[in-house]
Amino acid sequence: MMKTANPMYEGAPWCLGRYESFEVDKPRQITLLNHDYVVWRDKVGNLNAIDNICPHAGANLAQGGYIVDFQGKDCLACPYHGNKVQFFGDGKVAIDGNISNQAIQPVLPLEIVDGLVWTYGLSWSEKDGKLTAKAIEPKLPIPDFNHIHYLPKNYDRIQLEKLNHIYSRSELVKCNIAQAVWNIHDGEHFAGTHRDTMLSQEIKIDNLIQDEHKLAWELTLYKRTDSATKKNKMSLLLEPEFIQAFNTFLPSLAVVTLGFQGKLIAGIVTIYPETEKSIRICLDSYIDLEFSWWQKLIGVKRISNAFRDRLIMEDISIMENLYTTFNQKISLKNDTPSQLAMNYLQQF
Ligand code: FES
Ligand SMILES: [Fe+2]
Repeated sequence: MMKTANPMYEGAPWCLGRYESFEVDKPRQITLLNHDYVVWRDKVGNLNAIDNICPHAGANLAQGGYIVDFQGKDCLACPYHGNKVQFFGDGKVAIDGNISNQAIQPVLPLEIVDGLVWTYGLSWSEKDGKLTAKAIEPKLPIPDFNHIHYLPKNYDRIQLEKLNHIYSRSELVKCNIAQAVWNIHDGEHFAGTHRDTMLSQEIKIDNLIQDEHKLAWELTLYKRTDSATKKNKMSLLLEPEFIQAFNTFLPSLAVVTLGFQGKLIAGIVTIYPETEKSIRICLDSYIDLEFSWWQKLIGVKRISNAFRDRLIMEDISIMENLYTTFNQKISLKNDTPSQLAMNYLQQF
């Protein structure tokens, strides 16, 4: 499809997930921009991220690395030579019990905003047989939840920390960032990709606005009325006419909101490039209410989360089945958000 000079959009902020998704003392591996890191939250609440490759004999620190106490501080012991080599979040390393004066292990800088973990990543290069990392210069700011359009009445901003977090899913997808961005902005795919889940007949896009890397629009889905649709279990969850607001912060974040009984439901979709050919997509859903006893009884949360599971799996299956190179010769009437997003990415 489109070739860009910067296929991984270096300089964009990437969200690695919710701060809460990193459990205390449980190191986790993440891959960002072709490099692996180990991330762990320590017992005082700091989130640490360093190069995942042990500089002694190349062990994968996230696979089996364990947290130990070193003079009252959490540090990460190498799974290979454990008490011999231990890592701190600032990149310093304790070797045989002596802490290095300087950082030895490259550190991935993290920023926590609204309970989400952001980073611009590091750029790695090889010089004289040695890999060196340098911080990537930011091109775009970290998204600001104060600027979300078309929220339900009574809301002027989203405060994730005040909402009830009800769903989280993170998946690896074999596609590139541009293909995922197309999918997120695609107005037409509800009637195709999600035909058995959204049951849409027609789609309408209103109030589309663009402010450089930020796009916002309202999407109305009209439910099919055939008898098969009425029998479909998903039908109960869907109104005949159903409006969702989209706010995207290219290339990494989309906020999908809707009102439910006057209350806010928000879906946060984040993507980041693991490599040129694979991305990680995360969906987290929040709701501004606690479930009532009868909603718990009929399992509203379970049913609506099964609905989210279906949507995300349908998207993944379509994203993994796209050709990367093709000539776009036709367009559909609700392609505009995708088209604007692609134009923006092209000159990133
Ligand atoms: S490989 Fe990590 S300490 Fe030896
Ligand atoms: Fe979708």
